[in-house]
Amino acid sequence: MSKLPIIILPAPLLRAKSAPIERVDDDVRRLAADMLETMYAAPGIGLAAIQVGVQRRLLVLDVSEKEDEQNPLVMINPEIVKLGDELVPYEEGCLSIPDVRVEIERPSSLTVRFIDREGRPQQLDADGLLATAIQHEIDHLDGRLIIDFLSRLKRDMIVRRFKKQARLDSEST
Ligand code: NI
Repeated sequence: MSKLPIIILPAPLLRAKSAPIERVDDDVRRLAADMLETMYAAPGIGLAAIQVGVQRRLLVLDVSEKEDEQNPLVMINPEIVKLGDELVPYEEGCLSIPDVRVEIERPSSLTVRFIDREGRPQQLDADGLLATAIQHEIDHLDGRLIIDFLSRLKRDMIVRRFKKQARLDSEST
């Protein structure tokens, strides 16, 4: 396994829509394993393939609280089939937008269908942090980011800040 570089704002690819995976093969399994390693190292609780520059509908998650208790989830072509009625606010961060947190209200429970690493169809009921993380990561597959939940003014301010930082970084290398 190897750690992959995570792309950050304002990388245009973060706005791209990811395409479905047609076949679950060793390449997909290797990518999922690399993404898990990248996510754990960050550290983060979720990562979408687009965040490592791969425009495919694949995401990895692990919301377990204890460091010694890993519970990795790999979802290929995930699709939310049911959302709960109740909304809960949660302060979300994103590995592609370091040091920014946005309070977002999302449905507190959901049912998601996906393909697992063995190519088998799965269905999962989730609530709490896992439900939030699944919605956040599926947003990535459609090019949606947490800053899209902010007012235009606040969003533009953050994007400007990251553009400036990217400019400074490229000038210093
Ligand atoms: Ni994110």
